Parts: sequence; structure tokens; C-alpha cells
Amino acid sequence: MTDILTLRRPDDWHVHLRDGETMRAVVPHTARRFARAVVMPNLKPPVTTTALAGEYRRRILDAVPTGMTFEPLMTLYLTDNMPPDEIDRAKAAGYVIGCKLYPAGATTNSDSGVTDIARIDRVLARMAELDLVLQIHGEVTEEHVDVFEREQRFIDTVLAPLIVRHPRLRVVFEHITTRAAVEFVRDARAGVAATITPQHLLFNRNEIFRGGIRPHFYCLPILKTETDRDALVAAATGGDPRFFLGTDSAPHARHTKENACGCAGMYSAHAGLELYVEAFERAGALERLEGFAAHYGADFYRLPRNTETVTLRRREWRPPLTYAFGGAELVPMFAGEPLRWSLEGDE
Ligand code: NCD
Ligand code: ZN
Ligand code: ZN
Repeated sequence: MTDILTLRRPDDWHVHLRDGETMRAVVPHTARRFARAVVMPNLKPPVTTTALAGEYRRRILDAVPTGMTFEPLMTLYLTDNMPPDEIDRAKAAGYVIGCKLYPAGATTNSDSGVTDIARIDRVLARMAELDLVLQIHGEVTEEHVDVFEREQRFIDTVLAPLIVRHPRLRVVFEHITTRAAVEFVRDARAGVAATITPQHLLFNRNEIFRGGIRPHFYCLPILKTETDRDALVAAATGGDPRFFLGTDSAPHARHTKENACGCAGMYSAHAGLELYVEAFERAGALERLEGFAAHYGADFYRLPRNTETVTLRRREWRPPLTYAFGGAELVPMFAGEPLRWSLEGDE
């Protein structure tokens, strides 16, 4: 049994860093582990322009602790009204690598999202021409569709036609949660990939209700069945470059989750690599972690792989019950529970 694991330094291809004081609470966790991260634009108000993304990027860089290197990769929040020439400005800026599609109403801060994909057709065409990546929260939003079926329905009604209509557009199906999504991505044309979160590798939907209702296991897309989890583990650990790391770390203040109408999102940045080590070790696939965490995402985004390394040691630790979060508390994944691997240099 190996007790030391040295990997090329990984990147997080999907993270929520928020803004202001709460951002300053979480950026050190991400920057400690990941060289780069795709920073989601669902702020209030959302990051809809290149200029706003540039200002947000600057605030993130200012929150990186001295001595750490971290590059935020920005993505613009698509709305029904984005002008196609915003894509030209985004490409010219250099720090924007894609645009994020939130179906209106699908998830946290998605109210200004896209109401009908047909409305952004010219924007998508321009993204394909200039090679900006489309990142997708893939769930339909119709009230009558069962919450556990919204991802699969999105594949059939939106995603499959979209990649045919825009054959050169490169697409990341974010935080996939179902066997159907795994199969769709595996069989899709070139230029289609997916991120997978640690929670969807480690838990199934029973976890939300084990012993009572547990709001810290509520995220969107919601946890699915054990069959789905199995398929996700096989995809992540199978060495297929279409699947790569995206934590979807999504911090919310404790009181907004422990609430009659609790927010969706799980916080994982404090153990953003360690949680995947746990999942890969349980699957007996530690040797496949480096590709998933540090190679395939960079290759898909046509960025160089990182050159530094990170080292993990088999040494149990327990994340704290809470972190400070801008005057409130943040409950992390595995709060008070044992994780088997720690980052070298940490206590
Ligand atoms: C995310 C958030 O809180 O911003 N929540 C979540 O449950 N994943 C939004 C998202 O990624 O859909
Ligand atoms: Zn999402
Ligand atoms: Zn997200």
C-alpha cells in the first residue's frame, strides 16, 4: 500500500468563489490545492460582461495569500440579451475561457439565465468561431419534471440538439450526476466533455435523508441513485479524457442551508483534492487520479499542463465542523469526519 502520492498540481474546472468577505474566506482553500480554476459567474448581479469579469478576476487575485500562485479562469454568465460582440471582447481579453449557460431558474442565482436556448443562437455561433468553451448547467427547469429526472431530460431536449446544431462548439457538461449523462458524453462527438464533483462520486441520494433531512447534502443537480454513482465512479476512474475534475465547491452560510428553504450547494474546496483521493482509493484507482485531476481538463481547454507537483500523505484528518465565512459560518463536506489522505505541509 502506498503512503505517499505525488501528482502534477491539479486544476479545478468548476468552482464558486463568491465575492467580498466570503470570497476571501474560501479562495485560500482553492489556491492551496489548485493551480487554476474556472470561476463560476453566478454572483449577484451576475458576471455578464468581459469588463465585470476582469474586475472580479482582480478581486480574486487580491484574495490569494502571499506565497501561493493561482490563476482564476473566467467565464461569462449567458443571458437572453448577451450581444454576440461580447464574445469578441471576451476572446480579446485573454482571461475569459468560456461562457456559462444557466437555464433560467435551474439553480442558485440563475434568475437572469437563459429562458430559451434559441435566443442565444448567434452568441453560440460566435463562441464556436472564436473557440470559447460553453459550460452548461444541464437541467431542464419545468416544474412538472421530476427533480431527479431534470438532467436526463435536458440531454434529450436541449443538449443533444445543441451539439448537432453547433458542431464545432466545444462544450463542458458540468457536474454530471447520472448514468445517462456518462453514456451521453462517452458517445458524443469530439469536443464534448464533463466535470464530475466529489459529492457525486462519494454519495448517493440516500445521504440526503439518512436519519433525518440533511441540508448539507443538498446540491444541484441533486444526488442520484447508487447506479448513477457507480457509473460516475467508472467514468472518473476509467482514464477517459472526456471526464475531469470540477469540484463545484459552492459555499453558502450555514443559516441559509439550515433553513425551511435551504440553498443548494456543498462546500468542498477545503478538501478539494483529498475528497477525490478518497473516491479514487475506494475504487482502487489511485493511479488514474492524476489524469483526471491534472491532465484531461487542461488538454480539453488547450492550456498547458501545470509543471509543479503536490504531495499527499496517508494520514487521517478531520475537517473542522465550521469555517468562518464573512461573519457567518460555513459547514464543509466531511465536517468532523475522517479523511484518509492529507496534503503535505498541512497539519
Ligand atoms: C451552485 C451555487 O451555489 O452557486 N449550487 C449547487 O448546488 N451546485 C450552483 C450550481 O453550480 O448549480
Ligand atoms: Zn450548476
Ligand atoms: Zn456550480
